[in-house]
Amino acid sequence: MLAKLESLSPDLGTIVHGNARDDISQLDVDEIKELFKSSGLVLFRGFPLDADKFRDFTSRFTNHFLLYYNVHRKYIGDGTQTVELFDQAIPFHGELTYLPTVTPTLRPPDIIWFYCVSHPPHSGETLTCDGVRLLRELSESTRNLFMSKRLKYKLEHIAELWHSLADNREQVEEILRRTEGVSSWRFDDDDTLYWDHVTLAVRPTRHQNQLAYINNIFCSRCPFEDDTPIPPDVLDEVSRVSERLTVPIRWEYNDLVMIDNSRCLHGRKWHADGRMIYVRMSIANF
Ligand SMILES: [Fe+2]
Repeated sequence: MLAKLESLSPDLGTIVHGNARDDISQLDVDEIKELFKSSGLVLFRGFPLDADKFRDFTSRFTNHFLLYYNVHRKYIGDGTQTVELFDQAIPFHGELTYLPTVTPTLRPPDIIWFYCVSHPPHSGETLTCDGVRLLRELSESTRNLFMSKRLKYKLEHIAELWHSLADNREQVEEILRRTEGVSSWRFDDDDTLYWDHVTLAVRPTRHQNQLAYINNIFCSRCPFEDDTPIPPDVLDEVSRVSERLTVPIRWEYNDLVMIDNSRCLHGRKWHADGRMIYVRMSIANF
């Protein structure tokens, strides 16, 4: 039986409250999975945590973890990283949703986990937005545009990264040839791989069989497949509607958040010194 529950917002997210004597590992995994499927986001608040408990708890929902190689993140260990350590805001995005499913280790995660190690008092909120509701509340013309015209993400992998997938160029090309949405690639003289991924900004959720607006438009600034830019008034509309639907997570020490990456966008506000959030990225076992 789960501890005390509370809605984070009317449509998105549930808070599971614990206290200093509660052990998060005693929560019923199947109940949490059901809550996650219906809520899209579960915030565990008040439970005593550390990096080991974070690792062990998240492992119970996971087949394997992904790592994101980024100079702004620090590797903690056991598949745990920090989020980007610079202090600027990050706009709404789906995590790694510019990637197709290339291999089991190079693809977007199903679940993003954040664990609040420390936070400044009045800044650095993580922002979330229900992609299902966002899609529904866009104007018909914008919705139709994103449902009919695919985006083109221009991707770049240095040799060190693609060598973690394959030994040589021929093997990488074979993998890309089999990957849905990948139509062109090239290597430059220093062996960096440049490739395009063409995909819709709208995709089905993993649970509840709905369509969600989930993509990396604001971070990637990608064009449409035909290389035409996304019109500024369309970007303005998405910004306006997503801002209206924002569900903020105002961090408390030891908060642990589980986000459905197929349904929710996430981003963050600027933050003052003292923000330390750990992240793990799951391929779910359910
Ligand atoms: Fe992210």
